[in-house]
Amino acid sequence: MDTNRKLKGMIAAAAVILCFALLGGALTGGDVMYHLKNRGDLGPLSRDDIEYLEAEAPPATSNDGTVNAADWAQVYPEIAFTMGENSKNDYVIDYLEQDPYLKNIYEGYGFAVDYGSARGHEYCLEDVEKTARPHPYANCLTCKTPNFAKLVNDIGVGAYTMDFYEVLAMMEEDVSCYTCHGNEAGERGKLVVTHSYVIKALGDNMDDIDPSVLSCGQCHIEYYFTPADKETMMPYHDVASMSPDAILAYYDEMGFYDWICASTGVRMLKAQHPETETFLAGKHAGLLNCADCHMEMVQEEDGTVYHSHYISSPLDSETLLSNCAVCHGDTDMVATVRRIQERITARETEVGTKLSDFKDALAAAVAEGKMSEEKLEAVRKIYREAQWYFDFCYVENSEGAHNTELATYCLDKSEELINEGMKLLNEQ
Ligand code: HEC
Ligand code: HEC
Ligand code: HEC
Ligand code: HEC
Repeated sequence: MDTNRKLKGMIAAAAVILCFALLGGALTGGDVMYHLKNRGDLGPLSRDDIEYLEAEAPPATSNDGTVNAADWAQVYPEIAFTMGENSKNDYVIDYLEQDPYLKNIYEGYGFAVDYGSARGHEYCLEDVEKTARPHPYANCLTCKTPNFAKLVNDIGVGAYTMDFYEVLAMMEEDVSCYTCHGNEAGERGKLVVTHSYVIKALGDNMDDIDPSVLSCGQCHIEYYFTPADKETMMPYHDVASMSPDAILAYYDEMGFYDWICASTGVRMLKAQHPETETFLAGKHAGLLNCADCHMEMVQEEDGTVYHSHYISSPLDSETLLSNCAVCHGDTDMVATVRRIQERITARETEVGTKLSDFKDALAAAVAEGKMSEEKLEAVRKIYREAQWYFDFCYVENSEGAHNTELATYCLDKSEELINEGMKLLNEQ
């Protein structure tokens, strides 16, 4: 077999040592014990440690010129195979059943009808087709398939308002090679931003973000649809403006809302899945990227080293957990993370339930019609903000693992706003 199709792994003898911090023994911070060593100790985790062999892109067999996973399988069989394994992640939690208060706070919006947890990338198209949430336009396909990204790149923003089903019929693959590499995977696994709105929103500030964070950050982000073109767009222009406070200010300034809640009259915001924003504001930003924790490095017997493209929870992988140990020492990371998640989930239930009660109280005040419109508007503004902060944490899929402080901040802030709003309602 020609060596050209192999990525020869080589732990460079003189690996570039990335010194993030050199602290001696173990330190304690929150519930976490860690000792920082340099990243060079993380085994063959970094691009700098691998000698990548170049490969020419095979001819595209798709209709739109994207080189698909089956094409690339001739060159990188291991990568195409492991990407296919994402179908193993097929478990879904019905959030509406788990947290019944959601139906109330999402009243009038698609998420009150159908809201389940994410599954593996191989289910993107199947799940977007079968969701009971409405899909008026093709823009719902933005984060599901490389073929839609290619369509936007070919014909421009008009693609977003095309008919959903018409475009769905043209889609050939779930998230795949073109999504993260363009047709340039053969150029040493080069990562290419193919989602044009990322480039529009961030411009040169993209350079501040590690490319492999940015590759996931094409979709695992907060976004909105522009009122004029229904184009998918991110509500910021740089990393500093990715906080829930800054994003709220951005939406406020443009007078944006996702829907108006009928019973309260609140111009509501729906947060999406701000994993990237949450990670970038967290303690691992600059130290690790998404692949370090979600994609194992695999070494075959013949020395071939590659990133498994099966995306897993680090808690389910001995290999990924052994990376944690480099900085966290012999702390039981599964127990540490589960403890954080339990605490955050319990707070979500507590604050979500209070939010739902606040909504009922506001709806009752509106129905009663005794409160001045001015005062109602003040409470509506508070409600909009309270739900925004709650949602920013609730819909982030790590349940506090990516950034415990931010999750806690959002829930505390939401609760503060709920208390303030309830006080106004009770005053009259
Ligand atoms: C390159 C070093 C490094 C590696 C590798 C690393 N961490 Fe961390 N981690 C840190 C630092 C630094 C902190 C901040 C600790 C503090 O504030 O006391 C941290 C904090 C955390 C926290 C607390 C989060 C928060 O927002 O307070 C969790 C949870 C965590 N790490 C999980 C993991 C898991 C799981 C892995 C492996 C999959 C991992 N870490 C790998 C350096 C690392
Ligand atoms: C083109 C958009 C897109 C990109 C890019 C993307 N994802 Fe996803 N991801 C999704 C969607 C959509 C889902 C939910 C699929 C479903 O439930 O049908 C998902 C689901 C997931 C899940 C949940 C899997 C499970 O079983 O619960 C993880 C973890 C994940 N992605 C991590 C990543 C990482 C890490 C990257 C970068 C290496 C990445 N994603 C890049 C769109 C994307
Ligand atoms: C320090 C390691 C670490 C880094 C870096 C990291 N994650 Fe995670 N991620 C976790 C942990 C731990 C969980 C919780 C897993 C669990 O509950 O089993 C998680 C959960 C997730 C989930 C939810 C998975 C599910 O089953 O629904 C998604 C999606 C996700 N991460 C995406 C990302 C993206 C995108 C990035 C980069 C922007 C990233 N992660 C960076 C450790 C990490
Ligand atoms: C969701 C995003 C995503 C998808 C889809 C994806 N890759 Fe990757 N790929 C990555 C990331 C992230 C890396 C690691 C880059 C780094 O070193 O930081 C990577 C690395 C690579 C590398 C360099 C060698 C290695 O393993 O580190 C090759 C080659 C590659 N991918 C090919 C492919 C092919 C072929 C497909 C389709 C079968 C594919 N990728 C699909 C994100 C993706």
